Amino acid sequence: MTRLPALALALTLVSGLVLARQPVRARNGMVVTEEPIAADVGVAVLKAGGNAIDAAVAVAFALAVTHPSAGNIGGGGFLLAQFADGKSTFVDFRERAPSSASRNMYVDAQGKLTRDSIDGWRASGVPGTVRGLELAHKKYGSKTWRELVNPAVRLAREGFAIPYGLNESLKQSSARFQRYPSSRDTFGKPREVGDVLIQPDLSKTLERIANNPEDFYTGETARLLAQAMKDNGGNITLEDLKGYKAVERTPLMGAYKGLEITTAPPPSSGGVGLLQMLGVLEGSGYEKAGAGSAATIHFVAETMRRYYADRSEFMGDPDFREVPVRKLLHPVYLRNLRNSIDPNRATNSDSIRPGQHSAVEGTETTHCSIVDKQGNAVSLTYTLNGGFGSAVVAPGLGFLLNNEMDDFAAQPGSPNMFGLVQGEANAIQPGKRPLSSMTPTILRKDGKLFMVVGGPGGGRIITSVFQTILNVIDFNLNVQDAVDAPRFHHQWKPDVITMERGFSPDTIRLLEQRGHKVEVAPAVARVFAIVVDGGWLQGAADGRSYGKAEGF
Ligand code: DON
Repeated sequence: MTRLPALALALTLVSGLVLARQPVRARNGMVVTEEPIAADVGVAVLKAGGNAIDAAVAVAFALAVTHPSAGNIGGGGFLLAQFADGKSTFVDFRERAPSSASRNMYVDAQGKLTRDSIDGWRASGVPGTVRGLELAHKKYGSKTWRELVNPAVRLAREGFAIPYGLNESLKQSSARFQRYPSSRDTFGKPREVGDVLIQPDLSKTLERIANNPEDFYTGETARLLAQAMKDNGGNITLEDLKGYKAVERTPLMGAYKGLEITTAPPPSSGGVGLLQMLGVLEGSGYEKAGAGSAATIHFVAETMRRYYADRSEFMGDPDFREVPVRKLLHPVYLRNLRNSIDPNRATNSDSIRPGQHSAVEGTETTHCSIVDKQGNAVSLTYTLNGGFGSAVVAPGLGFLLNNEMDDFAAQPGSPNMFGLVQGEANAIQPGKRPLSSMTPTILRKDGKLFMVVGGPGGGRIITSVFQTILNVIDFNLNVQDAVDAPRFHHQWKPDVITMERGFSPDTIRLLEQRGHKVEVAPAVARVFAIVVDGGWLQGAADGRSYGKAEGF
């Protein structure tokens, strides 16, 4: 090949998505997360010689104070770690359904779904965050636990100036906070940007956790929480708290174009989805049509549609029902899926599987991606589920409780908060973990760390992580541009491609001509990523967020 066609090809591959923002570059360590003070806390831990796990623990506690809509101790999540020696692990601290939970607990006498899985005392699963961080720290941390929790204690006790983004989200949720006295006192008072938010109850709770993480599950925090649940018709008991365990699972492994991918296994639906969609794309040559072109969007959206149909049927807590991971990622199955895509025509979702549709609501989860000097990496996503979770602040304890019960199929076949249709595999059962879309992921190239990625966004997390990876690997975007580039999403039901602003009207028209319904809607997913290249750690906080990449 002469040089000219090769150059022309490279130009086509990146056309349409070239933005112009540089990532943050550093040599020794990088923290990328949703809120700047928490990013600083993480970098301070790394500078003091802490490893990526230490930094992740400190960032997670700090976010529980500075980013209360999603940062939490009253929720749960996943921590994926890739160590410099090649080993990896996945800490699952997803919430669990309380022991009194039952299949139809959110269905009323008329057979209608109530909002109790979303709002109020009955919406919460048993929180896992403190146990998850404790497990990760005990096994892999190097600093003392107290050192890592202390910055959060201080931030809660001394307060911090409320930034614009937090003030906006507090205002938006104000009506929900007014329903519960403890929530009204903590977050429901009118405040201005720049006012100092002091959280005295939370600082005391965190102080007890700093002394001993057991406090959350068997100590004073546990007793107060269980009592408040009892007084207010909630479901979580002292026994539920005592019995909560975080578990270490083997990460899901796969490959794309020779890069090794380490990602989230069930009860996340993210890793299986990511690997299935990448597997369908590999070898298809879809990328030749160019980034952001209608042909590319069409092909990628068709891979999404097919995975979300599988998701609705097969995915759930593997401790309760076998999830056919091998089948869903089998090369023959991937090939069949690939061959079922018509490059010129949208497949009707009804011809794949039956389901229903509802609107997507405002949501919150959060994430940090971290790399330390030794090359250890952490991708941690954790959540209260919806913004500010159930909106209930545990009285006297100062922290918000999750509404993660809505991630179950509260009524198999009915869509949840994210419009996701889910089935029997994700029906409510006592002790079960609700299916998640959180997709913390780490890529290695030639045996070396290459990319750390993840983020919030409900059912759109999987497709956002997926597109960010495609933007880097297939379209040669720098990590900041890869994160910022406009994204689209298809989840099988509703049968529509949701597209962010930033795609040209011509492209949308071409997609419609192929038979797609297109809806232009604001972003809900945010990605926080690091790419390691030429000895540089390159960090990118999503331009859609108020977050920060900070390195040294
Ligand atoms: O685990 C899940 O899939 C959801 N609870 C995540 C919620 C979420 O990302 C909301 N964020 N924007």
